[in-house]
Order: sequence, then C-alpha cells, then structure tokens
Amino acid sequence: MITLGIESSCDETGIALYQTGRGLLAHALHTQIAMHSEYGGVVPELASRDHVQRAIPLIRQVMQDANLTFEQLDAIAYTQGPGLGGALLVGASVANSLAFALDIPTIGIHHLEGHLLSPLLSDPAPEFPFVALLVSGGHTQLMRVDGVGRYELLGETVDDAAGEAFDKSAKLLGLGYPGGPALAKLATSGRPGLYKLPRPMLHSGNLDFSFSGLKTAVLTLVRQNELDEQTRADIAYATQEAIIDVLAHKARAALVKTGLSQLVVAGGVGANQMLRQRLSEDIGRRGGCVFYPDLEFCTDNGAMIAFAGALRLSEGQGTKDYRFNVKPRWNL
Ligand code: KG4
Ligand code: ZN
Repeated sequence: MITLGIESSCDETGIALYQTGRGLLAHALHTQIAMHSEYGGVVPELASRDHVQRAIPLIRQVMQDANLTFEQLDAIAYTQGPGLGGALLVGASVANSLAFALDIPTIGIHHLEGHLLSPLLSDPAPEFPFVALLVSGGHTQLMRVDGVGRYELLGETVDDAAGEAFDKSAKLLGLGYPGGPALAKLATSGRPGLYKLPRPMLHSGNLDFSFSGLKTAVLTLVRQNELDEQTRADIAYATQEAIIDVLAHKARAALVKTGLSQLVVAGGVGANQMLRQRLSEDIGRRGGCVFYPDLEFCTDNGAMIAFAGALRLSEGQGTKDYRFNVKPRWNL
C-alpha cells in the first residue's frame, strides 16, 4: 500500500511517499524559514500562501522521484492539526481534492503523533512500549506509547515549550529565527559554569515542565552584562544547559516511573546535539536506550505524516468522505 503524506501545519511544506512493507520511497521539503526570518517569526498568512505555491510542485517531485503514477497511490494522509488554521487548510484541501479525483481514502493525522512515531522510521527502531519526549516549538510532553493511538500523557509544560524557550532566549541574545539552532551553534563557543540559570520545576515531584521563568532570567543576564561575542556565547551555553538539564532529568524520571527502558526523542529540539549527548549518557548509564529520528525527520516533515497515516490505514482507518475540517488546537 502506497501512502502520500502531506505536512503543512506551520512553516514547512513536507511531502513524502511511504510504502507499507517497503519503507520511505521519496520525500521532499520546502522550508519557509528565509521568508519568515525578516519578521522574526512565522507570519501565518504568508505561511498559508506559500503552502499553496509549494504543495503541488512538491507532490509532482516526489511522484517523479519514486517513479510512480498517481493511479498507483492507495491513500493520502495529511496533518489535520494542531497548527496554524490557514496553513493546515492548504494541506487538507490538497489531500482531499487529489484523493477525490483518484477515488482513494484520506486520513487526517495529529502532527504530534507524526513526531512521536517518527523514530520508528530509523534503524534501529524502538519497539512498543516506550516513553516519548516530545520537544518542539509548540509542545513539551512526556508520553507513554503502547502502540499506535495508545498514548498516555505523563507530563507536559505548564507554560512555554522547550523550543519556545530556545527561540525566545535566542531573540534576547540578538539571534535570528528560528533561534534553537542558532543558540545551539553560539553555545559551542560558550564556556561552562559562568552563569547560573534556574531549573524551574526540577524537583516538583511530577513530570511537568516550566520554561517561562528562564527567559526572564536570560533577560536579566542580558541587561546586566556587556554583550560582547564571548559573553553572548557564555549565556547561550548556560541557557542551553538549563533547558537540557530539566529535559534530561524529567525524561529519566519518566522511565523510572513507568519502568520502561526505551526513550524516544521527537520534535525539532530533538535535533539538538547536546541534548542527544546528555540523554544518551544519562540513560545509557542506567541500562536504558535512547532513539532519535534521523536529523532530517526531527523537525517538521512529510515522512512522519505518510508513515503515521500508513500505520492507521493498515488498521482500517481512513475515509472517502472528502468533507474535512482542521483542528488548530487538538490534544493528542
Ligand atoms: O517540531 P518543529 O520543527 O516544529 C514544531 O512543531 O514546533 O520544532 C521547531 C522547534 C523550534 O523552536 C526550533 O528552534 C527548535 O525546534 N530547534 C532546535 C534545534 N533545531 C530546531 N532547538 C534547539 N537546538 C536545535 N538544534
Ligand atoms: Zn512539529
């Protein structure tokens, strides 16, 4: 069965083809980062318009790359939410129109389900059950995953997401959008131990997170110090360390609480090399194992949507109704 996947929830148009039993056949991505960077963040209207421009050419491209005709498609999966309403509508419309023309089913996928199943695309892949640490620009959650659609929320952020903490701190340090990768890069020339930042809720006794106090603390440091290049790098180091410290601590606690040994890290912040190193050390030392999606599938992409769609379709889900709605806010 061949599933076309369409992701358009934010600032990336991601298209992919997944064949059940065979794997990923082709994938393509257009990122709008350059377009939004002059505004310092995603402009929703511009995002929607750009998805309209990109979706069809990218679909043509993956079909060509996989050497397929449209008649060979069996189903279409698209991101139904959460995300920007207008952006989601572009993917949903394209998916349902194309599926209507081809008389094949569609399935709407939860963006976070895409992220949390994405490490299953890698080799070696984790096996159910596992704990997923979902760390993106909009979400920070720990989830117990027993199978497709069998998710139990263990803890989540009570305010900002980890990616947001990276992005907002980066902005305070004068770095461009998206701030996460820029801050991580600057931190490589930072010196450890010079600035102490808070680790909110580290010892809260539950698996929840809080990151909004961190940006206030970073703001104070930025105001108190002469911001030469080395100082900015030192603050970036301390910021990254504080975020990672909390994530690693809570992820470990989630494994202890559930008695599971596999941790899956998903979402854009999962691309952070220092986070990967820290988690692998911490959890490896305790006999656990950490799985990451390939770097290109950490941030938003079509492959994770095609894959999650294929799994659900193989369980008989999907419809030929073609009436659709999107869910900008949607709990997993
Ligand atoms: O999953 P994603 O692509 O989009 C959402 O669904 O939000 O995540 C984007 C987030 C942004 O906040 C970005 O700054 C962060 O992931 N990010 C990183 C890194 N790469 C992306 N944060 C820290 N270090 C990175 N290397
Ligand atoms: Zn995402």
